[in-house]
Amino acid sequence: MSEVIVVGSGIAGLIAAIETSRKYAVTLITKAELSESNTRYAQGGIAAALFEDDSVAEHVADTLRAGAGLSSKSVVEVLCSEGPARVRDLIRLGVAFDQHNGELARGLEAAHSRPRVLHAGGDATGFAIESALVHTIRATGNITILEHTFVKDLILHDGRVVGVEILDATGNPRSLSADAVILASGGAGQLYLHTTNPAVATGDGIAIALRAGAELADLEFYQFHPTTLAVPGNFLISEALRGDGAVLLDAEGHRFMKAVHPGAELAPRDVVARSIAEQMAAQNGAPVFLDASALGADFLKERFPTIDAACRTYGFDWASQPVPVTPAAHYWMGGVRTDEWGRTSLPGLFAVGEVACTGVHGANRLASNSLLESLVFAWRCASLLSNDDFSGKAWPVFTDEATVLPLQQEVGSATPVDRKALQTLMWEAVGIYREESVLLRAAKQLCLWKPNGTTASDYETANLLDLSRVMVAAASMRQESRGAHWRNDFPETSPNFHHHQYFRREGSAR
Ligand code: SIN
Repeated sequence: MSEVIVVGSGIAGLIAAIETSRKYAVTLITKAELSESNTRYAQGGIAAALFEDDSVAEHVADTLRAGAGLSSKSVVEVLCSEGPARVRDLIRLGVAFDQHNGELARGLEAAHSRPRVLHAGGDATGFAIESALVHTIRATGNITILEHTFVKDLILHDGRVVGVEILDATGNPRSLSADAVILASGGAGQLYLHTTNPAVATGDGIAIALRAGAELADLEFYQFHPTTLAVPGNFLISEALRGDGAVLLDAEGHRFMKAVHPGAELAPRDVVARSIAEQMAAQNGAPVFLDASALGADFLKERFPTIDAACRTYGFDWASQPVPVTPAAHYWMGGVRTDEWGRTSLPGLFAVGEVACTGVHGANRLASNSLLESLVFAWRCASLLSNDDFSGKAWPVFTDEATVLPLQQEVGSATPVDRKALQTLMWEAVGIYREESVLLRAAKQLCLWKPNGTTASDYETANLLDLSRVMVAAASMRQESRGAHWRNDFPETSPNFHHHQYFRREGSAR
């Protein structure tokens, strides 16, 4: 082995590139600027059991509880036990986490049994991590960086991934070969009309893996963040604010979460998101409010400078009055199925970060576990590849059966898909609430659309269409409510569905 391609430049891609470049020539491909990714916008931080009053066992227990029975215990144990060492690596790479009285400062977020969330620049944790890693990568030899380069598909030879087809920065199609491809291309918030994710989050890595024949897992589990500013763009209002004491109010100014869950505003994220949606419905769609005024103007400005600036830009003086908030699509627990080393079901193909489904998050991700998951599993993937005993031929065999779905589902009279219409459909059909009749209508509508065009933006929309089809199928098949997947027609959690759902496209080999 000599050449590795890494696709994506969030924390997972940057760590994978830095670590594999110690042994291999690495090409890092990103479709925007190097520093643009979901990571960059992460506010709350990165959870790890780094403190004396905390333990790996407690972090494991919190993660498993959040996952609603579908997190893989052994993989969660890897995450939580290796997390502290990887966070120390990040500090060595120059990430300056905030301090309090000479020690690492830590925040509390929903469903954590104690404060363990590190942050940097107050609420600019993702930006601080991204900046430090981009600085490191630019100073690292052995890495070729291709910005504004779109990965259109994977190249297969004898069932093995051997490279990628790209549109280069001038829009020309080209092929690049490699001994291994690591997908680290992030999530797919752009599946939805309302999302905290940036425009680049169009699920390209998951879609190209699906087309190449890789197995996908847990696609029905999509997390909605409870509190985004109720303005166009859904600016994220970190859960850390509720951890510091901000409260949710209905349109009349009454706290409503206390009556819903003993954790009140710090109940699990899916519970808070659904309660807000219900409250909004009871108020004819009017938003609820987050009241952070008790925290004081100075504290808000110092601890949450990014949100402070955003609130003021939108004309809200949040230090003196509650601000309107609403849920929005935030994080996909599902993705490309991997083992605990990032290996997918396709030889030569790895996936790390949000694009992957390692089994850590199950039906619902614990807050601030995603940066940690990216960090731990990108590092493990690179270390497996760099191990002298790893021939590149050793590959895991996933034994559970996957549902086989046709990829091309459009009818002859299908019309070109419009991205906004697709996002609207997904928000209504596979949003916070789901039910059979709406899912069936959505599945039918998705067959009436076909991909169109040959620009990178057209390919992104085509990827969203492919992913919408498998996600709707997954949500229809799971006839129960569990974690972030709520079915109005099946409101109970069922032992019959205490398992993962795997998918692969028709015609793909096992
Ligand atoms: C937040 O800051 O509320 C988001 C953290 C996360 O999604 O893990």
